[in-house]
Amino acid sequence: DWTMRAFRDEAIEKIRAQVGKGKVICGLSGGVDSAVAAVLIHEAIGDQLTCVFVDHGLLRLDEAKTVVDLFRHHYNIPLVHVDASKQFLGELAGVTDPEQKRKTIGRLFIDVFDAEARKIGGAEFLAQGTLYPDVIESVSFTGGPSVTIKSHHNVGGLPARMNMKLVEPLRELFKDEVRVLGRELGLPEIFVGRHPFPGPGLAIRCPGDITKEKLDILRNADAVYIDQIRKHGLYDAIWQAFAVLLPVKTVGVMGDGRTYDYVVGLRAVTSTDGMTADFYPFEMKFLGETATRIINEVKGVNRVVYDVTSKPPGTIEWE
Ligand code: XMP
Repeated sequence: DWTMRAFRDEAIEKIRAQVGKGKVICGLSGGVDSAVAAVLIHEAIGDQLTCVFVDHGLLRLDEAKTVVDLFRHHYNIPLVHVDASKQFLGELAGVTDPEQKRKTIGRLFIDVFDAEARKIGGAEFLAQGTLYPDVIESVSFTGGPSVTIKSHHNVGGLPARMNMKLVEPLRELFKDEVRVLGRELGLPEIFVGRHPFPGPGLAIRCPGDITKEKLDILRNADAVYIDQIRKHGLYDAIWQAFAVLLPVKTVGVMGDGRTYDYVVGLRAVTSTDGMTADFYPFEMKFLGETATRIINEVKGVNRVVYDVTSKPPGTIEWE
């Protein structure tokens, strides 16, 4: 792609000009954006870059392994894997307000990056895979007055106490363009084609109080759902699909016994940039089969519902 090649060369020059001989820390989330940002920056400045993958305990099943494999083994880019799950889950305990969750997570990410920056002898720059829609949606919705819909965990600048400058080479791009750039940079298709995953992770897919027990149930339900989607060859036709764990238990029956377990909501949407979206019209047979599999395979769930809300009026994530 000619345009992306030009963008790549220009972005590399800009990164070099901004960073000089400084050290850069790049936070990886497991999503496409931060991975593309990291590979681009690595091309620009090589070993001046250290990637940090924070396991906040809010990741999908096997996420950490996938990311570590890609960066350490495929790319050979220095990668620090921080297990901060105790800290994140500890501070999130009892937090139920969506904005409060997002702000807590954003703050903790900064704390971790700050600590890692010190460990490598002081990094002057923090790199993030912020995209254009992240910037717009954190500021206002459809250009109207400044109403915050959601505070994206990585938008809004850095706190003054942190002496780092931001490097955000994707700030002008949309998701489809980031994917083209990712291919241009040689990222494996399986990674480039991945559905978006938000920095706050499963915290915003678990409305209400977040506990380790709920997160484990959610991780397992989500894995079954995505497996179903892949098996039916639907993954690439969908912009984003995921499970949500509702903070309600309902009554069910299994064998000759009564059950009283959680409800899982399934979400799948088509979109081109995440700014607007339509719910994905699965066939009923697929939904029925998926519900049966989730209830049979995931302990703690006895009911599954499908979300048929588009954006607007819904948002893609539930929080
Ligand atoms: P919403 O829920 O606002 O989501 O319709 C639009 C897209 O943005 C993703 N999203 C986020 N990504 N940090 C991120 O990196 C965030 O805080 C965040 N919040 C939402 C969401 O997954 C969807 O793709």
